[in-house]
Amino acid sequence: MAFHSICLIGASGNLGTLILKHLLASSQNFQIKVLSRQSSTATFPDSVTVARVGDDYPAGELEQAFRGVDVVVAAVSMLGMGEQYKFIDACVAAKVKRYFPTEFGLDDLPEWLLQLREMFKIKHDVRDYCVAREAQGLEWTSVCCNAFFEMGVASGFFQLHWKEKKAVLLDGGNAKFVATTLDTVAVAVVRAIERPEVSRNKIMLVQDFRTSQREILDAVQQRVPGWEAENVESGSWLEAGKEAVRSGDNSQLPKLTFGTFGQGNQYEGRPEYANDVLELPTKSFSEAMDMFWKEYKDLVNA
Ligand SMILES: NC(=O)c1ccc[n+]([C@@H]2O[C@H](COP(=O)([O-])OP(=O)(O)OC[C@H]3O[C@@H](n4cnc5c(N)ncnc54)[C@H](OP(=O)(O)O)[C@@H]3O)[C@@H](O)[C@H]2O)c1
Repeated sequence: MAFHSICLIGASGNLGTLILKHLLASSQNFQIKVLSRQSSTATFPDSVTVARVGDDYPAGELEQAFRGVDVVVAAVSMLGMGEQYKFIDACVAAKVKRYFPTEFGLDDLPEWLLQLREMFKIKHDVRDYCVAREAQGLEWTSVCCNAFFEMGVASGFFQLHWKEKKAVLLDGGNAKFVATTLDTVAVAVVRAIERPEVSRNKIMLVQDFRTSQREILDAVQQRVPGWEAENVESGSWLEAGKEAVRSGDNSQLPKLTFGTFGQGNQYEGRPEYANDVLELPTKSFSEAMDMFWKEYKDLVNA
């Protein structure tokens, strides 16, 4: 079995743009359609068909757009995440063969995080929803990559706060965690589409490398000196973040997400580890840093 026709939702986004680029570059000559909201100002290359649907993704319009499509990939933002039940129902109605949920993050979601962060509860429930649709003939593939590397460095997610030039290091900052450039995530999605048999009904864990806060801070310091580093004990730091969110301070939510793996995690060696079956080309840490500096050059002078 090979897939021919692919519909990408969210093709104008941070990740979606790159998935579209790699779909277009695939040697399998996919027929590509993007599905975009009526109010969206996004534009797309002439070689793709564009389906514009109402902003609330009406069921009938989705089903019509999905007819004749083999694979639907959702790369929608956090704000559109809850619409996936409609996407999946329309896939079943239109007899789409495979659905890729908008995962692209953590594979492991502790119960306390599901309670505190609605977005993750939706991701978790959508996984269950996909599994339940297998009986109706819809396959699924979930690509998990832990942290987006470049965005994680730039946004302060890895606890490097650019404005104050202050890094908050968990337990010394040497724990290694999984990170993936957006480009590699996009390549993984396309490889999973190109290899339908190995990716059927699977969570696929992909990565570029493991890194640490200390390694990132050292690389940043080489170009932007003058950072202050504060060491914190991860357990109490995380508990303080949970307490803040429980009292309504949602600005602490990214900190909680980082806290789920900031003490270290590893994909290699796990049954879902998919770099090998996808023959995924990866970037090194220094290549990823170069990509970061290129994309976020303004931060150097901030
Ligand atoms: N692992 C990580 O560190 C990490 C970091 C960031 C994001 N992510 C995940 O990656 C996935 C994609 O995120 P992204 O940052 O690429 O998304 P994004 O750029 O914010 O948005 C992607 C697309 O979603 C569509 N969309 C649907 N409903 C929307 C709404 N209400 N508001 C705005 N856009 C809406 C838009 O497409 P149209 O305009 O064409 O309709 C938009 O271009 C998500 O699952 C997200 O959770 C992971």
